[in-house]
Amino acid sequence: MKNDPLLQPLTLKNLTLKNRVMLTSHEPAYPEDGMPKALYRAYHVERAKAGVALTMTAGSAAVSRDSPPVFNNILAYQDEVVPWMRELTDACHEHGTAVMIQLTHLGRRTRWDKGDWLPVVSASNRREASHRAYPKKAEIWDIERLIRDYADAAERMRAAGLDGLEIQAYGHLMDQFWSPLTNELEGPYGGSLDNRLRFTFEVLDAIRRRVGEDFLLGVRYTGDECLPGGFDARDGMEISKRLKRSGLVDFLNVVKGHIDTDPGLTDVIPIQGMPSAPHLDFAGDIKREVDFPTFHGAKIQDVATARHAIASGKVDMIGMTRAHMADPHLMRKVIEGREEEIRPCVGANYCLDRIYQGGAAYCIHNPATGRETTMPHTIAPAETRRKVVVVGTGPGGMEAARVAAERGHEVVVFEAADAPGGQVRLTAQSERRREMMGIIDWRYERCQALGVTFHFNVFAEQEEVVAESPDVVIVATGGLPNEEALAQGNELAVTGWDILSGHAKPGRNVLVYDDAGDHTALQAAEVIARSGARVEYMTADRALAPEVMAMNLVPYMRTLQVLDTTFTPTFRLVALRREGDELVASVESDYTRVGKERRVDQVVVNFGTLPMDDLYESLKPLSNNQGMVDYDKLIVGDPQPIVASDDTGAGFQLFRIGDAISHRNTHAAIYDALRLVKDL
Ligand SMILES: Cc1cc2nc3c(=O)[nH]c(=O)nc-3n(C[C@H](O)[C@H](O)[C@H](O)COP(=O)(O)O)c2cc1C
Ligand code: SF4
Repeated sequence: MKNDPLLQPLTLKNLTLKNRVMLTSHEPAYPEDGMPKALYRAYHVERAKAGVALTMTAGSAAVSRDSPPVFNNILAYQDEVVPWMRELTDACHEHGTAVMIQLTHLGRRTRWDKGDWLPVVSASNRREASHRAYPKKAEIWDIERLIRDYADAAERMRAAGLDGLEIQAYGHLMDQFWSPLTNELEGPYGGSLDNRLRFTFEVLDAIRRRVGEDFLLGVRYTGDECLPGGFDARDGMEISKRLKRSGLVDFLNVVKGHIDTDPGLTDVIPIQGMPSAPHLDFAGDIKREVDFPTFHGAKIQDVATARHAIASGKVDMIGMTRAHMADPHLMRKVIEGREEEIRPCVGANYCLDRIYQGGAAYCIHNPATGRETTMPHTIAPAETRRKVVVVGTGPGGMEAARVAAERGHEVVVFEAADAPGGQVRLTAQSERRREMMGIIDWRYERCQALGVTFHFNVFAEQEEVVAESPDVVIVATGGLPNEEALAQGNELAVTGWDILSGHAKPGRNVLVYDDAGDHTALQAAEVIARSGARVEYMTADRALAPEVMAMNLVPYMRTLQVLDTTFTPTFRLVALRREGDELVASVESDYTRVGKERRVDQVVVNFGTLPMDDLYESLKPLSNNQGMVDYDKLIVGDPQPIVASDDTGAGFQLFRIGDAISHRNTHAAIYDALRLVKDL
């Protein structure tokens, strides 16, 4: 362990980082009133306690009022931020973790209809595709005030006791000045590279003069926009060298690409099914040629890749951000030689996609992340050992079994299939979604290490469950596709599940109708389009697959557009009938009630699932609580009331979780399980 490259210290000026793993800056949208309060602090402290060397807090903390928060950012332009950042910093310092912050002005990457309704400012009037605001072109008085704002915000962070900060220059105001695509200024701040960089160096100079020499200062920037007409890797190398030569900064934090569109953002921050560590060599090239402390992180999810990044000397600090969202104790497990226990980040990107919809960042399979003030990352042992029966091994059932076992209970699990996974196993049929199995595999391994008994190929009914004499029964039987949603011709449709499982072969001319808006229909469309069929994807929604969200939509579109899939929003599939070899689909618009027809040879539907609740209903009369959940206690994270077994000994507590209640998603099922079972 001592020789582990990841565990070697790194000294930057007066600061020694105790190892080489950092959280790169990421705004999980946990601030309250723009301030990093108790939850924000708890989130960072949990990771600090476990040994991460540096946490780059915030993500895009706003330096100016005309950089309003688009994803609940920290408001670094308010003096009130100082005591909150001080509390967070002191608490992390107690565990030997250095604390910095990312400051930014979002430029055009925000909206004018937020915060104070000021016009958005940039170096041109060009709109950013993702956020849609048409900016004003910065005037000299804007530039002067923005430089002051950066320096003021930096001074606040020094006053709060932080170790340093970085400014953001990929897709935000700073590099909107750098890029010929977004800088249309004339005069000292537009035109030549010198001029386009002028704003950056004036900001850095102003910050340095305010914070002094000891305070660490860096830039997180893109070294290649990867856009025709943008600045390329050669310019990026030149910018890197100038940053070093300026003597104003202490480290570089290298990014590659552009984030002004969803596909661009997804290439910068790759999701599941995309290559691991795609920009590491690029960052390594900059480090080698510039010879300066270099940080980098982009889809480095596993410790082996992180170790390689450091051992090979490509970079000095490696970011493992989503990896720490999935497992905040990653570093503790590395330090203690328990790497096999790390809960893997499966790249589902639920975390990041949620913040772009205005939600908080939650990890698809760690529901305690972002809920540190109510949900535990470490399960405490129970005072009394009880017998817990879990039925179903989808994500909810597996979490229930794991958490019950961590509490020291005797756990027996029934599963009708021959292997664990439920719907996750189905979604993982697509090569691109294979990483999803990490959600199940990690839990299965933990359960096996904790002595859980699994009975596969058993369709458990009341009799099997009661025969175990359980104290608690968790029904996690999931759901089955809804096949009864049409007014007529339900029997003529196949479901998305049929396609994914291989039970139905793709047709030649196919209508895929998506009501649920989750991954299933798009995945099925992908399978069908890849088989060479003509596909029309239709939904009554006004947007495609809203539950899939922005970055997760990217790989689907990249496949489906190439394969010439047609997309038809705002039309609802109403009924089907057969005419000879053809299926005739009646479709209708909610807006006009205009009816149309489609003639195809296959119709694939995704109407979500209906709960498989027979077992639950049959157990209810035998249970002590009739399946009832005390929602007030559930919400605050308190134990459910235990009702003593009746005289017959047959009484038990009964709960159901996940899609066995109603069609939701993986995170919901796992959260159901954690918050019920953590106190059993
Ligand atoms: C919820 C979330 C919010 C993020 N916000 C920011 C941000 O504000 N600024 C930034 O530079 N990067 C942001 N990132 C990107 C991360 O710093 C990091 O570059 C990215 O997650 C890739 O690294 P990883 O694969 O180790 O997670 C964010 C990431 C996540 C998951
Ligand atoms: S939601 Fe997915 S990408 Fe985000 S931390 Fe969790 S496992 Fe990783």
